[in-house]
Amino acid sequence: MEQQTTTEAARPAPFAVTRSLSTSLLWLTMLAVMVAEVLIFVPSIANFREDWLSRRLESAAVAGVSAEGSGRGSLLDEAAQAKLLHALDAKLVAITMNGTSQLLAKSPELSTIDHEVSLADTAPWPLILGAFDTLAFGEDRIVRIVGHVGDGDMRAEVVMAEKKLRRAMIAYSWNILVLSVLIASFAAILVFVAISRLLIRPIRRMTHSMMLFRQKPTDGDRVIVPSGRRNEIGLAESELADMQTVLAETLREQRHLADLGLAVSKINHDLRNILASAQIVSDRLSTLPDPHVQRFAPMLIKSLDRALVYTQSVLAYGRAVESKPIRRKVRLHRLVDDVEDVLSLGRDPAIEVRNEVPPSIDVDVDPDQFYRALTNLVRNAIQALESETSEAVVRRVIVSAERREDGGVSVAIEDTGPGLGERAREHLFKAFRGSTRAGGTGLGLAIAAEIVDAHGGRIELKDTGRPGACFEIQLPPPRPASPTGRPTPAPPLAGGRAA
Ligand SMILES: Nc1ncnc2c1ncn2[C@@H]1O[C@H](COP(=O)(O)OP(=O)(O)OP(=O)(O)O)[C@@H](O)[C@H]1O
Ligand SMILES: [Mg+2]
Repeated sequence: MEQQTTTEAARPAPFAVTRSLSTSLLWLTMLAVMVAEVLIFVPSIANFREDWLSRRLESAAVAGVSAEGSGRGSLLDEAAQAKLLHALDAKLVAITMNGTSQLLAKSPELSTIDHEVSLADTAPWPLILGAFDTLAFGEDRIVRIVGHVGDGDMRAEVVMAEKKLRRAMIAYSWNILVLSVLIASFAAILVFVAISRLLIRPIRRMTHSMMLFRQKPTDGDRVIVPSGRRNEIGLAESELADMQTVLAETLREQRHLADLGLAVSKINHDLRNILASAQIVSDRLSTLPDPHVQRFAPMLIKSLDRALVYTQSVLAYGRAVESKPIRRKVRLHRLVDDVEDVLSLGRDPAIEVRNEVPPSIDVDVDPDQFYRALTNLVRNAIQALESETSEAVVRRVIVSAERREDGGVSVAIEDTGPGLGERAREHLFKAFRGSTRAGGTGLGLAIAAEIVDAHGGRIELKDTGRPGACFEIQLPPPRPASPTGRPTPAPPLAGGRAA
């Protein structure tokens, strides 16, 4: 609890959201729509100008055709000229038909022409540049517009002040701008509402759940309840819920284990004293001349010695000090004999433990630790065989070993029992998880695996195809001696343990 408070204190102040995601999205959407509108505006203003100019030329052509129909020759009379120039808001109107040019009307005020626009050029870039040119400089210019009218060879020419065109273009631009702002605002509001509902709200809900969970991660009630959406957010919610559930469970388990560790350390502490007293008594016992006492006392003393060392190492482990294996060259056959001796006491005599380890095989292990690993495996096998009640069933445990080509040693502990149950297989080598035995703690296999790991070896449950269980330990080859004369640390075998 105290530790939690310290971590809380060390944690930086909660991150303050200074700019909400929704506001940023609102601005971003408006900006995107405006940029799109500008991209649309550029060609459309060019198009608008071209249409406007074409309409002028068409009007000039219509006037020219009607003048020809009236048979009045080239120039119209003054009144007609003034009317035409006024109607087209032009200073000069001329057409070319069937190869002959015809001046229809000309204002006496016309002096200079500043600029010429040919509608023959329909490529997009000149049209766009022309539009911006008009917008920028068209206020005081006199422009000459020439171009084809219709599909035939008729050409028209109009000279006029560019101001009119420019003003029409500015009015058009304003319309587009107002429309753009309206569309951008509407789109932004739509996107804002949609994103708020689809993203921001669920994200806020997840953030809230994370913050709540962080305050008390062991509380399973603070785990988020997924909304059941069938999209990425729904997936994130259910992943978060899974993660929080696992985390809460793990933390509860760890707290439980920490409590248990403390209790074990306390028990061990006192047990060590009791064992020490028992050791003194057994030392005294060994001096008695009784042949039974002489046979069993050394085994008792050995077991008590081991128990004492073990309680000591558990206490050291409780203080989080790694107990590294202290390796020696050990005759495996003898070690298995020791295991068998100790486990033979009080065992059902119908269960046979066979030591088939060749006497020539020695291994590079910590004898006490490896003894414990083997004891756990053989004891498990014996316990599994004890559950077998039929007299006809062969009840046998075989411990065998062979040297591999790479110099390492494979040790197998095989029995003729019922084999491992599903739960035990699922939680194989996991402390406290895999026990199916009444009174079992589920530590034996975890201890064995930990010891084998510490030796750089590998333990696995082998499928032999025969009934029963077979655990196989692969020990790495002995380490070459370093120049100091000490063996170098063994490289671990690939994969510490396997199921
Ligand atoms: N040789 C075996 N045959 C059948 N089942 C086995 C064998 N070895 C282990 N098991 C199964 O694996 C489980 C876990 O074994 P493990 O040694 O880790 O714990 P345990 O024997 O239940 O308790 P303890 O911590 O006292 O050893 C056992 O409960 C048993 O069901
Ligand atoms: Mg066991």
